[in-house]
Amino acid sequence: MACVVSIIPGDGIGPAVVSSARKVLEALSEVYGFKLSFVEALAGDAAKRDFGEPMPKDSLDKIRSSDACLKGPVGETAKDVIVFLRQKLDLYANIRPFKTLPRVSTKWRDVDFVVVRENTEDLYKCVEDVGEEYAVALMVLTKKACTRIAKVAFQIAENRRRKVTVVHKGNVLRSFELFRAAALNVAKSYPSVSVEEMLVDNAAYQLVVNPQRFDVILTTNMFGDILSDEAAGIVGSLGLAYSANIGDGFGLFEPVHGTAPDIDPSYANPLAQVMASKMMLEWLGSTKGNASMLEAANGLENAVLSLLEEGEALTPDLGGRATTEEVTRRLVDMLLKGRGTSRRPVVY
Ligand code: NAI
Repeated sequence: MACVVSIIPGDGIGPAVVSSARKVLEALSEVYGFKLSFVEALAGDAAKRDFGEPMPKDSLDKIRSSDACLKGPVGETAKDVIVFLRQKLDLYANIRPFKTLPRVSTKWRDVDFVVVRENTEDLYKCVEDVGEEYAVALMVLTKKACTRIAKVAFQIAENRRRKVTVVHKGNVLRSFELFRAAALNVAKSYPSVSVEEMLVDNAAYQLVVNPQRFDVILTTNMFGDILSDEAAGIVGSLGLAYSANIGDGFGLFEPVHGTAPDIDPSYANPLAQVMASKMMLEWLGSTKGNASMLEAANGLENAVLSLLEEGEALTPDLGGRATTEEVTRRLVDMLLKGRGTSRRPVVY
């Protein structure tokens, strides 16, 4: 039976990169023999313009009744779409892998870490009071949310280099003690994983001077948001940074980047959106027990690595001159010709 994927094309470069990811998924389903059906769920600035609301009920219904959602970036209405969906669907784990990649120009080599960001609370709970003379935003942390995100981080670390860095700002705000204590308590159940604590300002610095020291970074919502963009710069481009928003029964997959209003959409790097769809296949493959989706995810990652190694179809953010469409064609071509062969297991 086909898995239903709801698709949010988004705004700005969104429709271009989402269309690319969809073509790649169609090629993969042909090569690896699994079935996906797509349903469009319009949301974002365009939806607000056309239907009067950024997250129409019809779109929410489509997303809810799908097996997973592949989301493009949305613009000024991001809060009403992605922050809303993370809370409404309780997608509490935001998982963001960062790796240095072949031929992508950066200052570092052998960087490989994952940011695990709590996705439903903190200042992004958006409990605010803004007046003429003051503005207040409430930072909300609960033991339940801190504990469940810590479990995700330690589980991921168990399958990697077994180190978790708990990032907070407990020297200034007592509230972070709840997060810190929950993480250290969860750590007791994972004796093979080493744990360290780091204040967020130092984490921002260490990311720039010594990113190889990190394996899994566990942090709260807003810190995770900011550190992720810094991490994307460290591995070469926001156009390569992808993420999963996962809850107990649903997953939404998107690039880390926004709508990139400063570039021509036909030159947007589609690889972050494409790799978000790789994470979606991994999640669908493991939750639905579909081995061909897992193989396809591995094949896709290897095809992306081959594309980067080859260096012929790269967008301007990676120093190339190719359009989004040209990158997509090259990737699809590689997949259809079997260049995405198995190289190593997928572990994020
Ligand atoms: P941005 O991520 O859109 O852009 C930051 C920089 O990265 C820009 O120079 C841009 O050209 C570049 N960039 C991003 N993606 C790229 C790609 N695929 N290929 C090549 N270059 C790329 O961040 P910004 O400018 O702060 O936000 C723009 C809009 O996006 C805002 O309206 C914001 O609300 C929205 N946004 C939405 C998000 C979401 O839907 N999850 C996440 C972040 C921002």
